[in-house]
Amino acid sequence: MRKKVIAGNWKMNKIATEANEFVDEVAAKVPEDKQVEAIVCAPFPFLAAIVDKTKNTNLKVAAQTMHYEESGAFTGEVSPTMLEDLGVSHVVLGHSERREYYNETDETVNKKTHAAFNHHLVPIVCVGETLEQREANETMDHVENQVTKALKGLSNQQVADTIIAYEPIWAIGTGKTATSDEANEVCAHIRQVIGKITSPETAEKVVIQYGGSVKPANIEELLAQSDIDGALVGGASLKSDSFLQLVEAGT
Ligand code: 13P
Repeated sequence: MRKKVIAGNWKMNKIATEANEFVDEVAAKVPEDKQVEAIVCAPFPFLAAIVDKTKNTNLKVAAQTMHYEESGAFTGEVSPTMLEDLGVSHVVLGHSERREYYNETDETVNKKTHAAFNHHLVPIVCVGETLEQREANETMDHVENQVTKALKGLSNQQVADTIIAYEPIWAIGTGKTATSDEANEVCAHIRQVIGKITSPETAEKVVIQYGGSVKPANIEELLAQSDIDGALVGGASLKSDSFLQLVEAGT
């Protein structure tokens, strides 16, 4: 049985007091449940304080991106070494907003997945199609390509430990959720693709999340699907009560 992973991606929201308040309200309430994992994906300036506040709780902490190099002349960037040193456990890679606005490519995502494993960080690798690609029937080929390139060169064990987030771009922040059938169909395809590049046993272990307008009202139906093992949530993860409801749905 795969565990459910609920991750709240705050994106570029909150100031420090709000971030701390959220964690104070949430961290102690995340259940100790081997079947559900709760993660906040916070902006860089808040990570150290949140890691500190979540020690001895079940709330995990992720960065929203990182560089693949360990150090060097990359002004403004944050390295995997820094995140590991801070005690961050997960890192979101290849979010569609990073791909669209910051030149993230399948090649850089692949370098970053390797860097994540070299620094004991669990990568949450985002894939997903645009509306144009969906309408042109290119969804399956597109996500297959993204997943294959992102995971290139990883060991089967590393692939098994990777979290994939399927986020159709047209469903992000739009209020339009893929129907649970539509979302499950793509997640099942992703699992098949992973089975082809590793082994069916490895693919069975991979946590595949859905993301795109997930909220307390639709999460249960999504999580009830055969191949959806959690959610990467933007807007509905910003309020502590709604985030806790999403986590609760995974228990
Ligand atoms: P929304 O939940 O706001 O649609 O955002 C989804 C997302 O991009 C999470 O990474």
